[in-house]
Amino acid sequence: MFAIADDPKWWHSAVVYQIYPRSFNDSNGDGIGDIPGIIQKLDYIQTLGVNVIWLSPVYKSPMDDNGYDISDYCDIAPEFGNMADMDELIAQAKVRGIKIVMDLVVNHSSDEHPWFIESKSSLDNPKRDWYIWKDPKADGSAPNNWDSFFTPSAWELDETTGQYYLHLFSKKQPDLNWANTEVRQAIYEMMHFWLKKGLGGFRMDVINMIGKPADYPDATIFDQGVAGWEHWSNNVLVHQYLREMNQQVLSHYDVLTVGETPFTTTLDGRFYSDPARKEVSMIFTFEHMGLDREEHNARPKALDLTELKTVLSKWQDELYNKGWNSVYWNNHDQARCVSRFGNDSDAYRVISAKMLGTLLHGMSGTPYVYQGEELGMCNKVFSDISQFDDLMAHFHYKKMMERGDTPESALEYLNHFSRDHARIPVQWDGSEHAGFTTGTPWLAVNDNFETVNAQLATSDENSIYYHYQHLINLRRGGEYSDTLVYGKHCLLQADDPQVYAYTRSYKGQTLLIVANFTDQQLSRDFGLEFKQNISNNYADYQCKASSIELKAYQACIFVV
Ligand code: GLC
Ligand code: CA
Repeated sequence: MFAIADDPKWWHSAVVYQIYPRSFNDSNGDGIGDIPGIIQKLDYIQTLGVNVIWLSPVYKSPMDDNGYDISDYCDIAPEFGNMADMDELIAQAKVRGIKIVMDLVVNHSSDEHPWFIESKSSLDNPKRDWYIWKDPKADGSAPNNWDSFFTPSAWELDETTGQYYLHLFSKKQPDLNWANTEVRQAIYEMMHFWLKKGLGGFRMDVINMIGKPADYPDATIFDQGVAGWEHWSNNVLVHQYLREMNQQVLSHYDVLTVGETPFTTTLDGRFYSDPARKEVSMIFTFEHMGLDREEHNARPKALDLTELKTVLSKWQDELYNKGWNSVYWNNHDQARCVSRFGNDSDAYRVISAKMLGTLLHGMSGTPYVYQGEELGMCNKVFSDISQFDDLMAHFHYKKMMERGDTPESALEYLNHFSRDHARIPVQWDGSEHAGFTTGTPWLAVNDNFETVNAQLATSDENSIYYHYQHLINLRRGGEYSDTLVYGKHCLLQADDPQVYAYTRSYKGQTLLIVANFTDQQLSRDFGLEFKQNISNNYADYQCKASSIELKAYQACIFVV
């Protein structure tokens, strides 16, 4: 049987650190993180042990969606720096053995991109067909009933030409028309421009949405996703475009590519990441991110650990030797994992953050660490809707008000799930504004910065930071690396609602990863002999024959 391990790629054993530039580190006191600020912290990132940085967008942008609305794909936003800074970042990272992966946001551009300004100018402009323009229905209403992620309808009427344009996100993010060959060629050219600078690859923003069916049919599913998703996500067109992109661009470089793909099944995951299909290296699934909320009631719900096991194990097993996984707890769109899946109380924050890290870094696939996760940064408590910055938070709040929710319950929802929890500035030290800026930060820091910060973490050998460093080092080299990278996954005791345990096996070596998700002391027996402990979030552990006592949130890796 063909095995992925027979054709090793550098990104199989990579660990990625994601930076959201606006919130990472401000070098010039304007309150906004920037590229020189990232360069100042490269040693901190190198010491953590990762070999890839995924940089959220730094391109020129009016910042309606903090840079996911690009007005020039080949220039840098002045608030983040300039092209010389970007080249310096790539070079300085390279010196430290780190590759830079940039965000590729090409489902849509900004409405301030010259392409859209031209496209909008008249019905017969040569760039008219670069975006998706449709006539109104006979009664003047939108061409179909698709929703947008950030506004009620996905269509916006342009009074001047009398047509609607499609925007799956904000109305300042018009969707590009991938059916047009010139659009695709312009994008491929831009990708070559960046890859020639020595980039490590691309994270492809909502890439599974680029294929729009030619007849723009009405949505028929309203109790899942965003109305219309059954038509524009993961269809046959996406795969055609990605194979063309691979052939014309990606195949000329040795790069990591990761597609952001909401609404995907494991079968979709195989279509995207099977090396024989030549599309992308891996994708981000969102299945595990929906388990602690009632999606259509916008209400938090307690995590059922057996559901988390079912979902994560399905991806581990069904992509094994058929594709490649990415594994993550956090990114710039998700609330903080220690608050969602761990326990962010003073007593358990550190130990449960290490537990989550251990569970994830034991898995098959490329692990992603989001800025501040290695410090156990938490959700912030927002006391009023005006304190949120994110346009999505404001859209959801409005929607909840319109359907009759109370402001308190809407706030409760956002305090669990708002994207702003990920975007509060990184806590560097205990000084004012957590050392993120000498000015006024664009988004206020979390109140707990005096106890949760990088300065404390890097001077404490028992910190979450050093626990992550240990986990990353185990994967990136040494005698357990092959098993952590290529080992077959096997879930143990699937029905146990308190303890998550699985093994990874490769060429005669087996590792057991075990994690207690509760604040109780528990005893478990896996019928395996504990030969050696290689990771532990406590100073010690207790086992007798094949049974082990697990303290609150204890997580270990054993050779068995
Ligand atoms: C992706 C990004 C998100 C952005 C959206 C539109 O989901 O991760 O931050 O708002 O796409 O570009
Ligand atoms: Ca700045």
